[in-house]
Amino acid sequence: MDLLIRNATLPDGARGIDIAIENGRIAAIGPGLQVHAHQEIDAAGDLATPPFVDAHFHMDATLSVGLPRVNRSGTLLEGISLWGELKPLLTQEALVERALQYCDWAVARGLLAIRSHVDVCDDRLLAVEALLQVKKQVAPYLDLQLVAFPQDGLLRIPSAFGNLKRAIAMGVDVVGGIPHFERTMADGAESVRLLCEFAADQGLRVDMHCDESDDPLSRHVETLAYHAHRLGMHGRVTGSHLTSMHSMDNYYVSKLLPLMHEADVAAIANPLINITLQGRHDSYPKRRGMTRVPELLAAGIDVAFGHDCVMDPWYSLGSGDMLEVAHMGLHVAQMTGQEAMHACFMAVTETPARILGLEGYGLQAGKHADLVILDADSTIEAIRLRAARRYVIRRGRVVSRSPAARATLNLPGRSGEIDFRLKRQDRSV
Ligand code: FE2
Repeated sequence: MDLLIRNATLPDGARGIDIAIENGRIAAIGPGLQVHAHQEIDAAGDLATPPFVDAHFHMDATLSVGLPRVNRSGTLLEGISLWGELKPLLTQEALVERALQYCDWAVARGLLAIRSHVDVCDDRLLAVEALLQVKKQVAPYLDLQLVAFPQDGLLRIPSAFGNLKRAIAMGVDVVGGIPHFERTMADGAESVRLLCEFAADQGLRVDMHCDESDDPLSRHVETLAYHAHRLGMHGRVTGSHLTSMHSMDNYYVSKLLPLMHEADVAAIANPLINITLQGRHDSYPKRRGMTRVPELLAAGIDVAFGHDCVMDPWYSLGSGDMLEVAHMGLHVAQMTGQEAMHACFMAVTETPARILGLEGYGLQAGKHADLVILDADSTIEAIRLRAARRYVIRRGRVVSRSPAARATLNLPGRSGEIDFRLKRQDRSV
């Protein structure tokens, strides 16, 4: 064997698990493996998880904060106009450099697969070319899936559909859309039809920014589910954001969720962004704006949490940490039950892997040897601590290491090194 990881805990709670790795794949996984390996890692009971997956990101805009100016109001609309100012100034070299820097951060955070939207409304398709180059360059260590995103509106911009088709022909993987940003609700519905028919014809997946507003009457995810079902695209269509669902009438939602389930349409919430950009027209009470995550899950619909933005025209914060995303999602959705907290961890690992259709993902024999060993002993502990990624492993090779979080105290009678986990004696009553 090339690598043996001893004494790991798995996301399902199984303890004392060894993972044997050969030729970039998991050769065996189970307790007490009797194998010899060139390299051994003692996980010492820490959590081994498949890598983090971000199902919703904008790599063409990332790390551009302050260019050409900062978003003073912090609103979605100022962000959109700021992006419009920045777009003509973009150069391919700067875009590639920023994307590569972000991918470095991602790897260090154990984030080894990202679905990024890329704006196709710039006729030069400069960002498409740049991100296709980045996709090829990072492929040995990170799976980058690209979505052709007509950010200014498929029907609002005359060249948008042609550009989107060119982007797909150049190698972009997924068909995007933004129906709520078209001129009318009817144009929005028409854009969904056109894009779904194009994707079905090309055998591609669909992931649309859908109903990203506080408008309780926005209906585009219903249209998306309708066309996904009509065209037999079950399991290959995703609605991103869906923030209007937060404000919808409860009766209508009780009809909508079964339609999404029937069409096997997945949902992606972006907690950090939804909580900051939605509800901006409200006084108090102020809506949170995130879609109905627990209700979607209860209806049997796949829900992932995406990062959406890091240091760009819409959001000045973030560092590629999907545990920070899960932490925010858990709080905003009030998912504080034990199973609900575990589901938040799944929403940044296994569920987005399924949405992206990642091949060979998971901790089973025969799968890619891609995994992360966290400075935590459970999925809940990982979210609580936004735990350090002690080892990030890609195809059986350690690609990043981080020190565990420790502090050295200098207190009367209480000096020495501490971590942030409960000590055994703390558990006595
Ligand atoms: Fe987005």
